[in-house]
Amino acid sequence: MIARLDYLKSLGVDAIWLSPFYKSPNKDGGYDVADPRDVDPKFGNLLDAKCLIEEAHRRELRVIFDIVPNHFSTEHLWFKEALASPKGSVARSRFHFYDGRGESGEIPPNNWNSIFGGPAWTRLTEVDGSKGQWYLHLFDSTQADLNWDNLDVRDDFEKTLRFWLDLGVDGFRIDVAHGLAKETILQDHPDPEGLTRALRLDVSDMRQEDRERLLSDVPFFDREGVHEIYRSWRKIFDSYSGGRISVAEAWVHPSSRAARYVRSDELHQIFNFDFLIAPWDAEFLVAAIKRTLSEVGSVDAPPTWVLSNHDSPRLVTRLGGGDLGERKARAFALLTHALPGGIYIFQGEELALVDGALPDSARQDPVFFRTNGKDKGRDGARIPLPWESAVNFGFSTGTPWLPIPKDWEDKTVAQQSINESSSLALYKKSLEIRSLHPALKKSSNYNIEWINAPKGVIGIKRAPGFLLIANTNVEEISVEIGEGAELLLASNSEVVVKVGRAVVAGHTTCWLNLPK
Ligand code: GLC
Repeated sequence: MIARLDYLKSLGVDAIWLSPFYKSPNKDGGYDVADPRDVDPKFGNLLDAKCLIEEAHRRELRVIFDIVPNHFSTEHLWFKEALASPKGSVARSRFHFYDGRGESGEIPPNNWNSIFGGPAWTRLTEVDGSKGQWYLHLFDSTQADLNWDNLDVRDDFEKTLRFWLDLGVDGFRIDVAHGLAKETILQDHPDPEGLTRALRLDVSDMRQEDRERLLSDVPFFDREGVHEIYRSWRKIFDSYSGGRISVAEAWVHPSSRAARYVRSDELHQIFNFDFLIAPWDAEFLVAAIKRTLSEVGSVDAPPTWVLSNHDSPRLVTRLGGGDLGERKARAFALLTHALPGGIYIFQGEELALVDGALPDSARQDPVFFRTNGKDKGRDGARIPLPWESAVNFGFSTGTPWLPIPKDWEDKTVAQQSINESSSLALYKKSLEIRSLHPALKKSSNYNIEWINAPKGVIGIKRAPGFLLIANTNVEEISVEIGEGAELLLASNSEVVVKVGRAVVAGHTTCWLNLPK
């Protein structure tokens, strides 16, 4: 990672977020943490972590670690202690252990499902060999949910935050930030299957209003109790110098509830996932941008924009794949990179990677296993970056954790670095302009101005002197842009600027400089 920091610097990002690298049996890509204050030997050691932070700082890159407070791996010492301790013990009260229902406790305490598929409860075999209590796991059965009413849990996480802050980390991405407080554990949900499908976005045949209804009252997500936890964390972040920050992964409904996580005494940012599931459609995107700006604006927090991440299909794939998918992805990226606030780029997004084909035997994602292969899971989007033509594309001389498709030769960083029309070149240019242009560069000015645009077209002005036109239609459009406007950047070469007008091809975004 340290050896690749120069690449990230040249890409033009100003911070990196690392997914969990803590001690873990890796049943869920490290989100099953067995020791939150140590590095898994697969990746290095604590000194390496410190060195990574220092080397990043030397290049003026900030570093965000991923903290996973909803659950611990069942390999964590606490869970082992809980297994060895009797029912009702302090050790068990750090998790959600309950007796089962039915004559011999054979029915789980409630009917909740795991988000990864199957039941959210697993029954223990007690030390004497008898069938025992059940424990809650909203995700894999190796990820036992923590009980945030237990003070040991709170203290331990505060210790973990301080541990990494002391080492110099600039902040945290908070995994499942909306999940820590659970309510009504001993009540069944009226529609557990529907709820699971709604949560997993597997809703093609679900009515929008049913989905909204199910998601607006989830007994284990977005309960009032989470906010008090973040208020106490905020005090810790603020007690350190250097502007330490936090960003919440919290899927909440309705989306207006997101602002509650970024009130001035809580977290700093919350991922806005509107773009992650958005079609390339002007009407949808304009509504999403307006909604986001007004909602987080109401609490003076910066907006964020996410086009892809490790939990979703890659952008090009989601937009249909092939040349057309890439064309739309490039246009979508330029729209995103011109918006105020923070943008999060998932590794390989800059290379326009697609979901790689994988044999089932290579799959790692618990979603694949827990749905008996019905859902292929997220591995396709998690294939390592192809750096250059070399063994394993330069990612590793060992065996990469997922195989890299052979036909990614023309997608490598090395190839795209020498190709001016590559996706990588486009990302570099847009991020450079974003950091230098007076209308786009870091500021607390989150204002944008909408300009009248034909159907399917987005027109945004940002002061001083910046104009964006995004054409989500198939056909080219001609837009009036006033005298003296100059083309700054376009998502492909099919934009023509004439006196007073821009002709923008289908599925294309362009940036223009307006005269003073
Ligand atoms: C978050 C992570 C995801 C992980 C899950 C359980 O959603 O982004 O990768 O599987 O939490 O920790």
